[in-house]
Amino acid sequence: MKCKRCRRAEAAVDLPSHHAAFCTDCFFLFFRRQVTEGIRKLRLLAPEDRVLVCVSGGKDSLVLWDVLMDEGYETEGLYIDLGIDGYSDRSKEKVLAYATSRGKTPIVVDLAKEGIPIPEAARCVRMQECSICGTVKRYFFNRVAAEGKFTVVATGHNLDDETARLLGNLLHWQRDHLARQHPLLPGTDEGLVRKVKPLWRVSEVETAAYGFLKGIDYVTEECPMSEDATSLVYKEALSRIEDRMPGTRIVFYKGFLDPSNPLRKGPEAAAPADAVGTPRACAACGAPTYAETCSYCRMKERVRKARSLRAAPVSR
Ligand code: AMP
Ligand code: FES
Ligand code: ZN
Repeated sequence: MKCKRCRRAEAAVDLPSHHAAFCTDCFFLFFRRQVTEGIRKLRLLAPEDRVLVCVSGGKDSLVLWDVLMDEGYETEGLYIDLGIDGYSDRSKEKVLAYATSRGKTPIVVDLAKEGIPIPEAARCVRMQECSICGTVKRYFFNRVAAEGKFTVVATGHNLDDETARLLGNLLHWQRDHLARQHPLLPGTDEGLVRKVKPLWRVSEVETAAYGFLKGIDYVTEECPMSEDATSLVYKEALSRIEDRMPGTRIVFYKGFLDPSNPLRKGPEAAAPADAVGTPRACAACGAPTYAETCSYCRMKERVRKARSLRAAPVSR
């Protein structure tokens, strides 16, 4: 099959959802245009932005960093070492190797040094690793961005991630979550830095193809803690629908983002669902919060207490 764009070279990537197939060079152009169009349409980034790209070592975030650098944005990478045996070291290696190949040194936050490595913290407070992990990652994304005077935080969520989340929110009629789901969450005067998902228009398969063809070496294994994550069930269901009806995913998501959709309040709905009153600074760390202390500091306190109970000698 010939490339649908140049009509000369053999096609290397088949994209049924776009009724297209491209040779490698034309696919690079196509992919980058999808990302830049996604940025332009929702005004995610401005040329003068300083972008903190959160890189996990997986394909999406490394591809995102690659495209943003190639597009001329001023970027730095942030890697959070979650302290997960083996997996975290392998992910970090990929991040460091990629960064070095582009002449960059990523910012690394080591959760073991912060006193809250995810597996041990989860055991202490008897919670799911993923829910602790989400809180801790969001906290450091914002803290590192605010301290480093970045104007925006970018993550590698792609179309598959966003539609899986949308399907989950719809199935459970999570109206608050639906109202807040958007590739752009604006910053606030109280210290929340703007957050964007520039890969919202590209699928996981497209991102993987881009990473592979560009020679980006990424971790292919999933986090061992997320094996039974419900989002994988929604992803699987959507993949089956997409296989039978190519293009459904993007139609589903674009329809959701349509400003006339009453389910969606869009970027204006920046406050979290449980927000009550006005935001203030966390009494312990100064981060923006709606409570006395922020959810990260509360979590850390619970872990500290659980640890000291364990360490205390058992009285008879
Ligand atoms: P996930 O929640 O694992 O699907 O990851 C979603 C996005 O969050 C990734 O594309 C990255 O941009 C970011 N991210 C996930 N894990 C890390 C990490 N350990 N360090 C930095 N960024 C991360
Ligand atoms: Fe957070 Fe696995 S527990 S990525
Ligand atoms: Zn705090």
